[in-house]
Amino acid sequence: MKIEYSNNLKSIPPYAFAEISRKKKALREKGKDLVDLGIGDPDLPTPKGIVSAMSDAINDSSTHRYPMDAGRPDFRQAWADWCKKRFGISISASDVQATLGSKEGLCNLARAFVNPGDKVLVPDPGYPGYANGACLLSGGIPVKMPLLEENGYLPDLSAINASDAKDAKLMYINYPNNPTGAVADKAFYSDVVDFAEENEVIIVSDLPYSEIYFDKKNKPISFLEVPGAMDVGIELHSFSKTYNMTGWRLGSAYGNPEIVAALSKVKENIDSGVFEAVQMAGIYALTNYPEAPALDEYNKRMDTLVAAFNDIGIEAKKPPATFYLWAKVPAGETSASFVNKVMEAANVVLTPGTAFGEYGEGYFRASITSPSERIIEAAERIRNLK
Ligand code: MLT
Repeated sequence: MKIEYSNNLKSIPPYAFAEISRKKKALREKGKDLVDLGIGDPDLPTPKGIVSAMSDAINDSSTHRYPMDAGRPDFRQAWADWCKKRFGISISASDVQATLGSKEGLCNLARAFVNPGDKVLVPDPGYPGYANGACLLSGGIPVKMPLLEENGYLPDLSAINASDAKDAKLMYINYPNNPTGAVADKAFYSDVVDFAEENEVIIVSDLPYSEIYFDKKNKPISFLEVPGAMDVGIELHSFSKTYNMTGWRLGSAYGNPEIVAALSKVKENIDSGVFEAVQMAGIYALTNYPEAPALDEYNKRMDTLVAAFNDIGIEAKKPPATFYLWAKVPAGETSASFVNKVMEAANVVLTPGTAFGEYGEGYFRASITSPSERIIEAAERIRNLK
């Protein structure tokens, strides 16, 4: 039988990090000692208290059945309370939906709003989930919003073509930003609200990195903090990066009630909810860790990475947030040539800027989810390539 994929599936490239992971596996099977500065997947374990909370919850058989709805009431309340404490925003627990990390929520959201041929505004460079898993898999047409260094990696809203703006159903924004590490301020978010109102575009703010910041007095903000945002948008968050819980698949969607309800309807028909024991571990995390447990370690590691790269002639500046360093590849290299050379000859894994879109050409991304001594080792190996 001829197996024919749908046009939507055919239209998307393989998930960039799955591709890199296959390459890593092949090199490791050849016995290579790789330093992995590729995917942003915390190497540090989930804190013991969260693991114990999960252990208690999993031993309670009431958690074993279909979770079915938008989430446990206590989980949704804990999320609403955390948002109030952290961002000062008031959300009703009924406007919170438990998700399988933020990726699932942002992709499934497109199923609720994007009809075939509809336009979706996506950042470029940007997390591949927005253009591929969300937009193209729903039959939409991604319209790129270039994130340029000279604009602080914020999209220039005035440069969006008027017909694209009018036709767009959704706009994805993501600050603190993956891959550039940039942050957004209230002035930018207010402009986004104005744009959304004028063009009737739903704003999807992806916020998984809000707790990975380097200046404790100047923490990243939520889109929903600005007036009007709740009318036009939704935010997605994740336990993955804050609490080293990538494998647990837990996140949250919250904001405009009608938009949250649409996501809930999609999810009810697809995944039947998040395992309740995982939600209970999430409540423990939210109520017991006032900041990301690895924050101070990441701060040191980012300093180490920036210094080590500067030392070998790669110009790099510490970002305000995220665990990513975004830097230009050396002269004469493309993103792909540099990253492939570094992987094959130095056994160091980086992510090419082009994994995040065409405007990522000329850049690479290094993640600090490896210990400091391995980061220094990586820089030494890259230096010795020359
Ligand atoms: C990244 O490295 O950009 C992300 O952590 C990958 C992901 O969330 O799938």
